[in-house]
Amino acid sequence: MDLYDQVMGAAAAIQERSGAERHDVAVVLGSGLGPLVERRPNSVVMDYGELPGFPIPQAMGHAGRAYSVEAGAHRVLLLSGRAHAYEGHDMATMTLPVRAAVAAGCHTVILTNAAGAIPGWLQPGDLVVIRDHINLAARNPLVGPNDERLGPRFPDMTDVYSPRLRYLARRVAAEDGTEMQEVVYAWWLGPSFETPAEIGMIAALGGDVVGMSTVPEAIAARHMGAEVVGFSLVTNRAAGLSDGRLSSEEVMEVATRARPRIEAFMDRFLAHTDLGAGPES
Ligand code: HPA
Repeated sequence: MDLYDQVMGAAAAIQERSGAERHDVAVVLGSGLGPLVERRPNSVVMDYGELPGFPIPQAMGHAGRAYSVEAGAHRVLLLSGRAHAYEGHDMATMTLPVRAAVAAGCHTVILTNAAGAIPGWLQPGDLVVIRDHINLAARNPLVGPNDERLGPRFPDMTDVYSPRLRYLARRVAAEDGTEMQEVVYAWWLGPSFETPAEIGMIAALGGDVVGMSTVPEAIAARHMGAEVVGFSLVTNRAAGLSDGRLSSEEVMEVATRARPRIEAFMDRFLAHTDLGAGPES
């Protein structure tokens, strides 16, 4: 089956299992952020196993469940758990959930992740909005034959992360007095964390935060014409910038502690009437 048919098949399964004719916003929940959805009333839960082609995530804090929920005027598809390239998935498989969400009607895609921070003006616990990315994994989900029904061969990447939605994010954060910073996210393949020398390189290249996800999904969603916004939760200072060593336990712990604050922000952001009003380009 070609990618287009796989994407359409998965989108049809989302529609059928959720009972929702269409969704307008998709949210991919990163490390430790999955439980954000547990308390939502009236959500329809779908295991990734029920959705054809969805890869089952292996990483800690990634459940592998999709939730169809209402937030304000929006019908939101929450993807709790993502597959990572470091698990050995090929790029097409990894990005299938986000493509299926766009095919199911989600013109807006919100990507979230946990990340390590480089500059001193970022601290563990900060929620930041992604301004741009650097693809250091040198992998791209668009490698291979292109299907024009999904998107163009050479998609523009000037504004991967919607300036309009970045502005909206900063405005929503400012409502409770929080100044949300904009950052450049560097995609590190993993699964080993970076060395201090590699962090020095990423800093020199202009990266502010570093993590092991998001970029492939952002590229695939933009390929299909969705409007993308990305958030990083800073869970640690990057390797060599603090006394301790890095661990996934620390990442999960900081994410768990930050959850109520992120949940409050996301509730307001998701319900915002401007969220889904963007151009389809
Ligand atoms: N590096 C890469 N990925 C991460 C980090 C990090 O420091 N923190 C959370 N995810």
